[in-house]
Amino acid sequence: MEKINSLAVVGAQWGDEGKGKVIDYLASRADVVARFQGGNNAGHTVVYGANIFKLHHVPSGIINAGTLCLLGNGMVVDPLVLVEELAELEKRGIDTSNLRISGKAHLNLIYHKDLDEENEKLLGEKKIGTTGRGIGPAYADKIMRRGIRAIEMIDLERFRERLAGILPLQNRILKEIYGHAGYDLGQLVELYRPAIEKLGPMVTDGSQVLFESLNAGKKVLFEGAQGALLDIDHGTYPYVTSSSTVAAAAATGNGVGPQHVRQSLGVIKSYTTRVGEGPFPTEDHFEAGEQLRERGNEFGTTTGRPRRCGWFDSVIARYAAMINGLTGLAVTKLDVLSGMDTVNIAVAYRCGEVEINNFPQSIEELKVCTPVYETFPGWDEDISRVRSLKDLPAAARHFLNAMEESVGVKIELVSVGPDRSQTIIGQDSILESWIGHNQ
Ligand code: IMP
Repeated sequence: MEKINSLAVVGAQWGDEGKGKVIDYLASRADVVARFQGGNNAGHTVVYGANIFKLHHVPSGIINAGTLCLLGNGMVVDPLVLVEELAELEKRGIDTSNLRISGKAHLNLIYHKDLDEENEKLLGEKKIGTTGRGIGPAYADKIMRRGIRAIEMIDLERFRERLAGILPLQNRILKEIYGHAGYDLGQLVELYRPAIEKLGPMVTDGSQVLFESLNAGKKVLFEGAQGALLDIDHGTYPYVTSSSTVAAAAATGNGVGPQHVRQSLGVIKSYTTRVGEGPFPTEDHFEAGEQLRERGNEFGTTTGRPRRCGWFDSVIARYAAMINGLTGLAVTKLDVLSGMDTVNIAVAYRCGEVEINNFPQSIEELKVCTPVYETFPGWDEDISRVRSLKDLPAAARHFLNAMEESVGVKIELVSVGPDRSQTIIGQDSILESWIGHNQ
């Protein structure tokens, strides 16, 4: 079996697919875990024994002593939130000394959060439904070439100087457009001083770290956040996040060559959820949607918002497989479907008179699409203790086969509960080499 040294794990729906659990499982065998996009809009829940960790910036790999965790250049980092996250981990006995921050990552600062909130208010009914964390404005400043990069944190004076050059413009925008009071330079520097003192020593050249690790044959896991349908280019624009969430971004968002992202595992929930606004063809406003939300505990990790829920949509999963070049699937939360009388898969969309199999480019078209379902028998058994595909009820196996066929990508892993141990590795899975490699 081919040995794999690097692997990207990405969301193949609208985020919240259960990547935290899958990444935590795979990260336990990784030497390096590197994030490549997003910021503290992400919320990964990792359950390890009796411990539940809610992570926002920090890769799930932090739980494993000895795994190097990197925040890549493609990320936007909120220093205040990151230090809180580290303090929480440290309080619970986790060693965070293995965290590194690419000097090229951008800082998400307090005025970005204000701008995010004010933009949403201005949009009114047309709001995006952002997490309100400042993500969009921080990326906008990066592209406008007026961002502040993590490298400026290595020295408070450098940070002060850079901020002094930028703050007058930010204040003008805040005051003149939004009627906000703006910020005083000295106060802002003092606000960030403790965070900068803590984080400055963690700033490094992320590309160099990865280059050396990959050349030394170390195992590198690229950790995606959000999901394919929230990608700034390929998602349901404008109801998307502000970064590239697809596997190819693992290369640009870390400064490594694309040959290191040959394997990409797409995480898909056995049903579909979405938070925030925007079209969602299989959204179910009735009993099934309510059941999925309650059984699956579908409430946002970052914002606590109830997630919109519906059946598994193979049209979006096929699309996600195409734009990511997925080489495998990880199906999560299969246990949540236990006890449903029947389970559905959307195999196509009906748009007016026509039936389409491919995801439409325009959200106007998507808004009028309704799903064409195939219905399968459900199963009643509690599957949370099953550890092998052959021990699953026949109906659950049948459903998994239908998912695999409808997406056209092999299922490599199935998760039947939040704990690391509640994981089934598929037959002849490429992941066996990843998991077995260091044993
Ligand atoms: P932003 O990333 O905060 O700008 O939010 C833009 C859109 O992405 C909104 O619909 C959010 O709900 C969604 N979003 C951002 N991060 C996540 C996530 O980690 N999971 C699910 N949705 C997310």
